[in-house]
Amino acid sequence: MNIRLHYLALILCFAALSCAQDPTGPEPPEPLAALRDEAPFPVGVAFQASRLNNAQYTSVAARTFSSLTAEWEMKMNPISGGRGIYNWQAADDLVAFARVQGMQVHGHTLLWHETTPAWLENFAGSDQEFEEAIQEYITTVVDRYKDDVASWDVVNEAFDNNTGLLRNSVYRRRMGDDYLARVFQYARDADPNVLLFYNDYGTPYDANKRAAVLAMVDDFQSRGIPIDGVGLQVHVTYTFPPIGDITAMMDAIVSRGLKVHLSELDVRVNPDGDLTTLTPARSQAQKERVGEIVSAFMALPSDKRYAITMWGLRDPDSWLISFWGNPEWPLLFDADFAPKPAYEGFLEALQPE
Ligand code: XIL
Repeated sequence: MNIRLHYLALILCFAALSCAQDPTGPEPPEPLAALRDEAPFPVGVAFQASRLNNAQYTSVAARTFSSLTAEWEMKMNPISGGRGIYNWQAADDLVAFARVQGMQVHGHTLLWHETTPAWLENFAGSDQEFEEAIQEYITTVVDRYKDDVASWDVVNEAFDNNTGLLRNSVYRRRMGDDYLARVFQYARDADPNVLLFYNDYGTPYDANKRAAVLAMVDDFQSRGIPIDGVGLQVHVTYTFPPIGDITAMMDAIVSRGLKVHLSELDVRVNPDGDLTTLTPARSQAQKERVGEIVSAFMALPSDKRYAITMWGLRDPDSWLISFWGNPEWPLLFDADFAPKPAYEGFLEALQPE
């Protein structure tokens, strides 16, 4: 072999070697399966209309989730500008997006003391006129979204923490202690098919609030007042409350023949403010926590599993950051729209043992 051939052989040899080592790096991992394709129940996301013109938000949300809750736009404050004055645009846009993407819509929420518009909070008319205005509002909103909204949170957070007493909201002050039953009936009258939920936080660990919610359900059922399910918001931390508390509340709802919606799930990993970045260890703890919650939900009878809804898409969008004032990473996607270990925890918990 002359020197030139030696040289060529050497080059070929190097080429073969570097090819074997793959200069582009290891094969990219398989993309994770979409929750909406894997879950035997709807998986939802709270979404804001302001994101509808951002292709990354819309594509990740639509690819991943099969249900949508308006994070703000279907509450009373944004919709109601006065008696008979309705601002539909943002809610309509969200509903239209969901329809195109084949996502079901969960309506949130007809009455919530935190989003009562000023004209109702300071209502000038009589109590009877107040109730007529509420009935008119509920009837109009439920009727408008009849074809698109599968379920409504009729009332959100009606009971006080710790005492479990009915919150002394403007609704209770104006309509009296039995107002919950009447507003559920107004919603049913407006749409005989929509599913009606009562939604609240803290019921797994706040014994008096839990008792109050279950007593309301028992009372409704004994009087034939319509109710189809109970939403547990599940704004939890990576350690609290114990999973057994969540399971016990879900079982209490199921034993009454109602559906369970884990309606606003997020898992705080920095409740004590000790982190400035999300550590691998805390991320793993969050994955396990999401996994145990989804597993507990999977253990319910299938006709009682209404849905699990994440309260937001990406960590930096979470309401918890401003609410608690700590850095937080409570959701399934990071700032770059990449699924986190918590996403895998959700996915793994869906697989049969
Ligand atoms: C929050 C939204 O995430 C915020 O964007 C909005 O400003 C206020 O409401 N319990 C509920 C939700 O039932 O409606 C709340 O959502 C979070 C607490």
